[in-house]
Amino acid sequence: MKVTAFVGSARKQHTYHAAEKFLQLLQSYGNVDTEIVRLCDYNIETCKGCRICFDKGEEFCQFKDDRDKLIEKMTHSDGVIFATPNYSFQLSAYMKIFLDRLGFVFHRPRFFGKTFTSIVAQGIGKGGDIVKYLHFIGKGLGFNVVKGSCVKTLEPMTEKARRKFDLTLERASKKFYARLSGKKYPSPALFWLMAFRMARTSMQKMLDENWRDFTYYRDNGWFISDYYYPVKLGMFKKLAGKLFDRMALTIIRS
Ligand SMILES: Cc1cc2nc3c(=O)[nH]c(=O)nc-3n(C[C@H](O)[C@H](O)[C@H](O)COP(=O)(O)O)c2cc1C
Repeated sequence: MKVTAFVGSARKQHTYHAAEKFLQLLQSYGNVDTEIVRLCDYNIETCKGCRICFDKGEEFCQFKDDRDKLIEKMTHSDGVIFATPNYSFQLSAYMKIFLDRLGFVFHRPRFFGKTFTSIVAQGIGKGGDIVKYLHFIGKGLGFNVVKGSCVKTLEPMTEKARRKFDLTLERASKKFYARLSGKKYPSPALFWLMAFRMARTSMQKMLDENWRDFTYYRDNGWFISDYYYPVKLGMFKKLAGKLFDRMALTIIRS
């Protein structure tokens, strides 16, 4: 199994070391190859919001940067980690610019069956909000998301803080490894079932084949499937899915 960590810090310090430690732990559990990608080593342009990737397709983007190289790294991984420092109580700019370059993937998710988590390194606090945000981001991109973790790095780091740093990563890496080796295509939570059914119904009814979202959904068979990937829905979720389709129709017609 291949696990790639994307690090959004230009320093080779706490965020990098946390990602490195996490990957070393995964390797120690067995059968895992790892790679660390430092976003600062790649050319990632700042999205100008033209929306051509949404509407016509990502290949029409005006920028010829390393976006596709980075996407390819995710495509060829079984597990992905986004690690970022907390800057001004948010993601680092490296990480945010990277996420904006993936904006079209939120329209057309693709990383199904791949395990995802996040690591936030911070001095003081509020990193929990960033972890929650990255949880949502991972889901939106299609990943199978494991709750992320937050490590405190306030300097000078005490021995106790170092132990806590290690313990947090040890616990998180065990959970990640269990998911990586376990069930890859879980039954969706109601929220994500709703997001899928409402998106696909509105795309089918409001767009046509001049829109990339329409052709992507059509070509993946998503206009007629229960969810993004084959999964057995229980009776309750089947009914809920039908209700979400109908809700989308009502909203479109109103
Ligand atoms: C510009 C800047 C802003 C920061 N803002 C916050 C913050 O809002 N909250 C926090 O807890 N730590 C903050 N920190 C501390 C960093 O999150 C912490 O030092 C982290 O370990 C940095 O990651 P690095 O060691 O990989 O560079 C900030 C650090 C910098 C340089």
